[in-house]
Amino acid sequence: MAAPNSLILSDIGVRFRLHYERAYTLKEVLINAVKKRNGYRDLWALRGVNINIGRGESVAIVGRNGSGKSTLLKVVAGVYEPTEGQRLVDGRVAALIELGAGFNGELTGRENVFLAGALMGRSRAEMTRRYRDIVDFAGIHDFMDTAVKNYSSGMYARLGFAVTTDVDADVLLIDEILGVGDEAFQKKCEGRIETLLSHGRTVVFVSHDAGAVQRICTRAIVLHKGTVAFDGPTREALTEYRRLYESGVEDLSKEAQHHENDPVR
Ligand SMILES: Nc1ncnc2c1ncn2[C@@H]1O[C@H](COP(=O)(O)OP(=O)(O)OP(=O)(O)O)[C@@H](O)[C@H]1O
Ligand SMILES: [Mg+2]
Repeated sequence: MAAPNSLILSDIGVRFRLHYERAYTLKEVLINAVKKRNGYRDLWALRGVNINIGRGESVAIVGRNGSGKSTLLKVVAGVYEPTEGQRLVDGRVAALIELGAGFNGELTGRENVFLAGALMGRSRAEMTRRYRDIVDFAGIHDFMDTAVKNYSSGMYARLGFAVTTDVDADVLLIDEILGVGDEAFQKKCEGRIETLLSHGRTVVFVSHDAGAVQRICTRAIVLHKGTVAFDGPTREALTEYRRLYESGVEDLSKEAQHHENDPVR
């Protein structure tokens, strides 16, 4: 029997409205008039996305820059309300989506750990008990009393990963974060992900690192221009991903998603 669903996305669409720069000169006003621009165009970062993920699955999301991976994770995390479609998540979600997202730059590492705990509904006493483990995992003892705005990106990622994975979440979302840490820390992160999976947690992992994707995930979803181009076993997905981009189109504007209200096209 299939595992119960952890996450169901039905026909998800996310639309962003991009406003044109204001026209200041007569020339710009005329160009806009000629091109019949009315101040904005719509970009569907995701459209018609259907994904079911079972409890305990480890799924990678791969795709080029701008294909919609982070937007997808933000929909799952509840950061973005989808423009259309339904999102169902069973259980608690912990997300590490943008480097340091959720951290306050002015606060120290220590203060941020306690703040994150409070946001997760933990008591101060409980966080005090957990603090040691979090800092040990992050391995940045000497910097816990430094404001995180002065952290290197690797230090940021270390503390972010340690805090996020310490939470008892059912679904863990990780966006591209492992790439920032050094090799030793990446190994440590992969080990922790394995442990979480062995405890039945669900992991959704965005990465451009094919090796990490193959080690961590049994299944991968290829996003292409905001839609699902492939969803299946990791090896086949990576083959499909390479095939899609073999042509080597380097200009991302040619990769742009479905646009509406864009007379320039
Ligand atoms: N807040 C926003 N406002 C407007 N457009 C956005 C916003 N967030 C994302 N986009 C657009 O949506 C598209 C998908 O972006 P997204 O960040 O999901 O891509 P990605 O696959 O994560 O790319 P990368 O590999 O570079 O991280 C892009 O065209 C991007 O410009
Ligand atoms: Mg991204």
